Amino acid sequence: MNNHFSQPIALLSKISIFFFLIVVVPPSYCVGYDEQLSACSGKYIFQCGSGTGLNISYPFWGGTRPQYCGRKGFEIRCQDNQYHFIDSAAQKFRVLNISYLEPIMTIVRDDLWNDYCSAIVYQEINFNHNIFKYSQNVRNISLFHHCDGVISPRDSNYFSCKMGLGGEEITTGFYVIDIPELRISNLSNTFQLGIKVPVLLAALDDLRRGNLEQALKQGFEVEYIADSIPCVQCIATGGICGSNISNTEQFICLCPDQPQPHTCPVGPPSHPKTLKWFRLGGLPVQISSGVLSDMAVEGDLLIR
Ligand SMILES: *[C@@H]1O[C@H](CO)[C@@H](O)[C@H](O)[C@H]1NC(C)=O
Ligand SMILES: *[C@@H]1O[C@H](CO)[C@@H](O)[C@H](O)[C@H]1NC(C)=O
Ligand SMILES: *[C@@H]1O[C@H](CO)[C@@H](O)[C@H](O)[C@H]1NC(C)=O
Ligand SMILES: *[C@@H]1O[C@H](CO)[C@@H](O)[C@H](O)[C@H]1NC(C)=O
Ligand SMILES: *[C@@H]1O[C@H](CO)[C@@H](O)[C@H](O)[C@H]1NC(C)=O
Repeated sequence: MNNHFSQPIALLSKISIFFFLIVVVPPSYCVGYDEQLSACSGKYIFQCGSGTGLNISYPFWGGTRPQYCGRKGFEIRCQDNQYHFIDSAAQKFRVLNISYLEPIMTIVRDDLWNDYCSAIVYQEINFNHNIFKYSQNVRNISLFHHCDGVISPRDSNYFSCKMGLGGEEITTGFYVIDIPELRISNLSNTFQLGIKVPVLLAALDDLRRGNLEQALKQGFEVEYIADSIPCVQCIATGGICGSNISNTEQFICLCPDQPQPHTCPVGPPSHPKTLKWFRLGGLPVQISSGVLSDMAVEGDLLIR
């Protein structure tokens, strides 16, 4: 007889422990490791606009791929049906391609893509040199403007631009590929230097043919650096690269059992998990397996 009363009471107290856990576990810790593992292990093609999609893989993230599958500072966003990368220096780049083998990203300054004429009088290109550097396939061109009367449309490196409000002012200018700093300063005493722009080696032919806009729109390549050595090592031991959920600046190797700082353990299987993750009303809740098995047993008794 006693059992009939004590069992529901015991169950009630376990349930209240349960809800206590739900309330005290802060939201950022609510994503369980199993969830992170499954979110990051699949391939993800980010669909933005009508193209074929962009393959998003570590260290990049964005769309429905969470930040913890990549690294802080590597978000790809879909804006105006285009892939964008917004650097911490607040300059916006359009992402044209990512090659994970090299690893290289092809980007173009968003303002140059939209209207290079209004962009050439603005600031130099600016990106986070801690995580990006120019690839071998990049050359600098220097654009000089307000050179009226000096340069003619017959010159292959000539360009003209509509400037000012309403575009009434027309300026003529020219561009030079890879000129040394000394010569730049001499030239900019005479003409106004607009900006120095990185272009692809492959675009130099366009430039020689006088097609400045075409060359600029091909963008340029940067090598990205995001702990690429640890990632390679992590993959080699069967892991998936990601970052710490509570600190996405920290690399972690997502291994089948638990996250590791660098690589997955090799050799005999590791000890079983002591913690399990369960979803309750949509919220993943961490409970110890002891409480869980008690609950399951008591639940069984109650049904009978
Ligand atoms: C993107 O990069 C891949 C891998 O390097 C390459 O095969 C592909 O041709 C590139 N696509 C474009 C549009 O440049
Ligand atoms: C996407 O990139 C990953 C990482 O390099 C690669 O393994 C995978 O084959 C790529 N998938 C597609 C569809 O390009
Ligand atoms: C292009 O210019 C940038 C910044 O001025 C410089 O860091 C880079 O080395 C230059 N690249 C080449 C290929 O000259
Ligand atoms: C560039 O200017 C420096 C002084 O600023 C001068 O010594 C040098 O001769 C000039 N070079 C050219 C090619 O005009
Ligand atoms: C993730 O970061 C937290 C807080 O910095 C730390 O306590 C935890 O050990 C880290 N997790 C891993 C797997 O490194």
